[in-house]
Amino acid sequence: MLSLIILTALSIIAYVFTDELIPKLSELFIKAGIYGIDLCKTSKEKIPEAVGVVSGCVFLVTSFLFIPIVFGSSLMNREHFPHNEFAELLAALLSICCMLLLGFADDVLDLRWRYKLILPTIASLPLLVVYYVNFNSTTFIVPIPLRQFLGASVNIGFLYYIYMGMLAVFCTNAINILAGINGLEVGQSVIIAISIIVFDVIELRGDQYKAHCFSLHIMIPYLATTLALLKHNWYPSKVFVGDTFCYVSGMTFAVVGILSHFSKTVLLFFIPQIINFVYSVPQLFHIIPCPRHRLPKYSAETDLLQASRTLIVKKDLNFLSNLIIGILSNLSLIEKTEDDVSITINNMTLINLFLIKLGPTTEVRLTIFLMLFQILCTCIAFLIRYPMASYFYDT
Ligand code: UD1
Ligand code: MG
Repeated sequence: MLSLIILTALSIIAYVFTDELIPKLSELFIKAGIYGIDLCKTSKEKIPEAVGVVSGCVFLVTSFLFIPIVFGSSLMNREHFPHNEFAELLAALLSICCMLLLGFADDVLDLRWRYKLILPTIASLPLLVVYYVNFNSTTFIVPIPLRQFLGASVNIGFLYYIYMGMLAVFCTNAINILAGINGLEVGQSVIIAISIIVFDVIELRGDQYKAHCFSLHIMIPYLATTLALLKHNWYPSKVFVGDTFCYVSGMTFAVVGILSHFSKTVLLFFIPQIINFVYSVPQLFHIIPCPRHRLPKYSAETDLLQASRTLIVKKDLNFLSNLIIGILSNLSLIEKTEDDVSITINNMTLINLFLIKLGPTTEVRLTIFLMLFQILCTCIAFLIRYPMASYFYDT
């Protein structure tokens, strides 16, 4: 408990430090050519990009400083040093550090999409090795209604490692593609982090006490540094967070989910990202054309955002793309206009879907609506995790 209090104090210092550091370093990013233009504003001023590297570095340094505190008493008694727990924390930090480096490389070099899938897989390897050495538990508990067919648990062996690697890929990219309006990448990450912290605190009294303490050791400094970043990234953004931030965040959530054994609960906190991913699949896999940017379209006259659109020439459509467009427009999930030669549909992101349903909206209102939706989904996640889980599992 004392270690958590010290960590919270360290994290408050980390918040203040990150908050001071970001404006000081912004100019350096612009000088180095690492900047972007806000596509939802009239002003074309240069905005430093990849500033997630600053909050990410302070987060990692805070975690490093915390190592001697959490393992302090064991250092005196080296015979009983908890090597397993130590390796776990080091592997977690190594994976996050790796993702920070690879994310920054992506921001500077603007890598192609296929690398965005490979990078998190590579960065999750240290994690999987430690998981193998420390736990190697590859068993899924079967929900009660399915037990008559499958038994109480199923050992899926090697597939479990593939699932964990895919979790890292999903978490990193899912945040990166629910992006494009000021404050959204960081805002959603703050809500997910708070949800995980609340879950950890609830579970601290249970028999998985150690696993949830481990999760808190990572989540508290992450939340503090991310809040400082949000202050500068909130509308109107003074800095952009870049893919660096999305990768660090996604990997941090995957790390705690895997090593603290609650990956399914972490996924429950990703409901909006899952919806956005599923809705995006036709464009991500190029069944329907996908432009470089799918963020909403800004109208300078009204200062409002509306859904961005993609024009598709009819003769380029095949059976599958016609089927998808037909089903989604019948369900009112896309807005479609057509003439003799082409079809225009909105880009398939949750942000654009909100705009179709709400009508043209200001950027800040849209971010707030999406964050409220994230909070609503967290409430649903807790409902599924607690009252409803008892119907499916022996809790
Ligand atoms: C992902 C999305 C892309 C979206 C972009 C926005 C997919 C497949 N890719 O691409 O559709 O347009 O994120 O981040 O869904 N920007 C703003 N305002 C913001 C944040 C970003 O205008 O609040 C713009 C800036 O020009 C910035 C750029 O987006 O430079 C960053 O885009 P980047 O992160 O490189 O895009 P991707 O992650 O590749
Ligand atoms: Mg991005």
